[in-house]
Amino acid sequence: MKGSKELLSELLAPVAPGMERMRAILAAQVDERSAAVRDMTHHVARFQGKQLRGALVLLTGEATGNTTDEHAAVAAIVEMIHLATLVHDDILDGAEVRRRVACVNQRWDNQIAVLLGDFLYARAFALSTQLSSRLCSRLLAETTRTLCVGEIEQSTRRYDFEMSRADYESIAAAKTASLYAAACELGARYPGGNQELGARMAEAGRNLGLAFQIIDDCLDLTAREEELGKSVGTDVEDGKVTLPVLLTYQAADEGVRAAMRDVYTRPELLDRRAALLAVCDVGRGVAQAQARAQELVLSAQRSVTDLPPSEARRSLESVFAFVLSRSQ
Ligand code: FPP
Ligand code: MG
Repeated sequence: MKGSKELLSELLAPVAPGMERMRAILAAQVDERSAAVRDMTHHVARFQGKQLRGALVLLTGEATGNTTDEHAAVAAIVEMIHLATLVHDDILDGAEVRRRVACVNQRWDNQIAVLLGDFLYARAFALSTQLSSRLCSRLLAETTRTLCVGEIEQSTRRYDFEMSRADYESIAAAKTASLYAAACELGARYPGGNQELGARMAEAGRNLGLAFQIIDDCLDLTAREEELGKSVGTDVEDGKVTLPVLLTYQAADEGVRAAMRDVYTRPELLDRRAALLAVCDVGRGVAQAQARAQELVLSAQRSVTDLPPSEARRSLESVFAFVLSRSQ
């Protein structure tokens, strides 16, 4: 059976040369004279897994007939911002492992991780100023603002079991889906282009990104670290009430609800995720969350059906479906 990495690289065949150029640009950008920094950037290069967001810039570019010579650089910028957010996110989550390697905050420490995230972010924006259009810098600056707001909102809603599903989705849309939306919008309209088409592709990216986050939250609750390649259970550990937990909670009786709240807050509990799985049946909440992710992927696919038929459009539709099947 084909692994998910092989499957994705087949799906990305229409943009394989662009992906190569994107990787070369990325490698050049994070190369630094300081041996210490180089050591760190080589380390985080190993976090580069699917490079989905960069791939979306290239695929939406191809599928909308908008590809330019600068699309690979735009894709590299999006990936660098993504990488910066992961380095910072692992500090916030106290995570230990990402893509089977130690997080920067573990391999070094929080101070280094803050600075390295800032370094990557600065490199991304420095490159964006060299592009012929300001659209990339403008859109990605707005997106970074949105994702920081999403992270802040998420922090303020920790341990909040009274959150609505809409509250959860609004946070996930900001912290995760915004970068997917920006990737698709940039692909479709960079350097200026058709705003209406850009908005439609942004909507597709937003729905896809939301689906991605929902699946990510299901995996954090149910997957094993060895399979996922990153720390699991960090959401429960950090007090994040994610969609599968929220849906489980909403369907539970008061006894189970109280036990769930207790697992989130009782001091010195060693493995909160295991304790949570022991006090409630998350199966239905997970299934409902997955169904919601499926609905969002269908919406994303509907947004691209009007594009002219092409290999890139078919590939885009399959990449949208791919996020539902991922186990990493
Ligand atoms: C992953 O969420 C995290 C994000 C999608 C965004 C994180 C963004 C920040 C911390 C702001 C960074 C700001 C700058 C300027 C670089 P997750 O924890 O649910 O996913 P995970 O399971 O992959 O850790
Ligand atoms: Mg995290």
